[in-house]
Amino acid sequence: MLIETAQTATIVITLGIETSCDETSVAILRDRAEIVVNLIASQIDAHQRFGGVVPEIASRKHLELLNPLLGAALEQAQLNWRDLDLIAVTHGPGLAGALLVGVAAAKALSFAHDIPCQPVNHIEGHILSNFLAQPDLAFPMLCLVVSGGHSDLILMRDFGIYERLGRTRDDAIGEAYDKVARALGLPLPGGPNLEKMALTASEAMQFSVSNMEPSFDVSYSGLKTAASQAAQKYPDQIPQIAAGFQRAAIAQLRRNVERALQEFKPATLGLCGGVAANSTLRGAMQDAATKAGINFVVPDKILCTDNAAMIAVAGYYRHRMRADKDYSVQSLNFEAHSVLPVA
Ligand code: KG4
Ligand code: ZN
Repeated sequence: MLIETAQTATIVITLGIETSCDETSVAILRDRAEIVVNLIASQIDAHQRFGGVVPEIASRKHLELLNPLLGAALEQAQLNWRDLDLIAVTHGPGLAGALLVGVAAAKALSFAHDIPCQPVNHIEGHILSNFLAQPDLAFPMLCLVVSGGHSDLILMRDFGIYERLGRTRDDAIGEAYDKVARALGLPLPGGPNLEKMALTASEAMQFSVSNMEPSFDVSYSGLKTAASQAAQKYPDQIPQIAAGFQRAAIAQLRRNVERALQEFKPATLGLCGGVAANSTLRGAMQDAATKAGINFVVPDKILCTDNAAMIAVAGYYRHRMRADKDYSVQSLNFEAHSVLPVA
């Protein structure tokens, strides 16, 4: 039954909270696409000496950072709690303890200030970040989601209607970037530093990648191992290895995207997730869309890596889709999930 209450009829201001991994972020979104504030506190310094994200440290840092960020976001937006119409929070997938910090805070704030609360799937947040860049995108949209945990090829037929065409059989592309960066002796953040190193190379080392046809799946573990072994064998050729890894990793994605463009003939090609901040990948996908004669969309780089603006926009659309509009106590009846498929 669809019950429109006065409280939920119009969502103008959405507060987004993101704590799924190592970025603590709070954003305020006006209507469907105007970012009023998007504060992102990276924890990279706390994890640097361990060479990767330490879940326990991530949770503690979220606890430390979240309240000050909430205060700062409201102050910068010159808003009070009573001005907010919706609280959107990531409830998965991600690190369980990290997610719990955001979920507990969102529930408490929702209850205390009587504001509806909308749980958001982090991956749906990445996908809908494209609507911050172009709010009137045409469906169907073929969307490549590339992050530290995902390498999914998704066909989005409408809001909330997703079909997963392909995924990774082993490592996600971001994870492979980070592990190869470490093998190459590069500091965190691995992905961006590997990209910088690759751009200094005059030539690229040749690496082969697995062919998963006829599926749209990808695999990065073989490439990751080959690049890491090359780093040990040829320590004087780090830029060439970085360039070769990046070329092979992106070629695999491009081949799948081009096949899916031919088969499904979408109206839009979208790119999102942390690895979508990579300029070479952005260029390759723009090129594939141009060749297919369709619109290409990718968020600003700062909206590709984890942020709360994408959670706010996804919460906004999810809220509009929700049949159950009774936001009394039921709206707080959700949990954090470390595994949470979007399709
Ligand atoms: O979406 P995201 O911020 O967090 C997850 O949901 O996983 O993605 C983080 C991933 C990391 O693996 C990071 O190394 C990678 O995105 N990344 C990049 C670049 N910027 C971030 N990988 C390649 N090139 C980049 N410029
Ligand atoms: Zn992410």
